[in-house]
Amino acid sequence: MLQGYRIRPFRPEDLDEVERINRVFLPENYPSYFFIENYRRFPNSFLVAEDEKGEVIGYVMCRVESYYVRSTTLLFGHVLSIAVSKRHRRRGIGKALMIEAESGLKGYGADVVYLEVRVSNEPAIKLYENLEYKILGVIPSYYADGEDAYLMYKIFEDFVDDSMVWEVLGRRVSK
Ligand SMILES: CC(C)(COP(=O)(O)OP(=O)(O)OC[C@H]1O[C@@H](n2cnc3c(N)ncnc32)[C@H](O)[C@@H]1OP(=O)(O)O)[C@@H](O)C(=O)NCCC(=O)NCCS
Repeated sequence: MLQGYRIRPFRPEDLDEVERINRVFLPENYPSYFFIENYRRFPNSFLVAEDEKGEVIGYVMCRVESYYVRSTTLLFGHVLSIAVSKRHRRRGIGKALMIEAESGLKGYGADVVYLEVRVSNEPAIKLYENLEYKILGVIPSYYADGEDAYLMYKIFEDFVDDSMVWEVLGRRVSK
């Protein structure tokens, strides 16, 4: 359980604070409409964490993508952005945001969830490994500054196997 924190759905009035956290803690920033579009389309997988004063101290934003593979359409949840304010880290908030986002994505019918993470971002990689994400491979120079990304994924549905994920996402990675 999260002591003194609460995970709840994003609301449009949270936008300024979410954008601030995004700008302060991540080099990958987005225009406001991108946050609002993901909220409108996938509100159940756009969540914020607030402290006991009701201040937003973290968020996770996702979307759902569909891919046609082996005569079937697979839905892939994509974790687009997650951050927790520095002084609130290592208290289980990032993990709680991810678990709640996964649940929202499952509600949209996602069969798989995936994300990109900087190869140097040990805290985030550990978080995803802790949640049983696997590394599919490396996306060379994925970030604007030239750093590589790991593409990591987790399968939700038994009928999906690693080779199907590879068919969809394998061309993005170098091995
Ligand atoms: C990644 C991030 C969201 C993690 O948030 P958090 O609230 O600190 O994570 P949690 O407390 O829920 O950690 C859950 C587990 O993840 C792993 N983990 C998290 N931070 C870690 C760290 N600094 N070192 C090692 N393991 C870590 C641990 O297994 C941890 O469980 P434990 O505390 O019981 O050992 C946070 O570090 C952050 O906002 N980083 C900056 C933004 C960012 O890099 N986002 C990811 C982009 S892909």
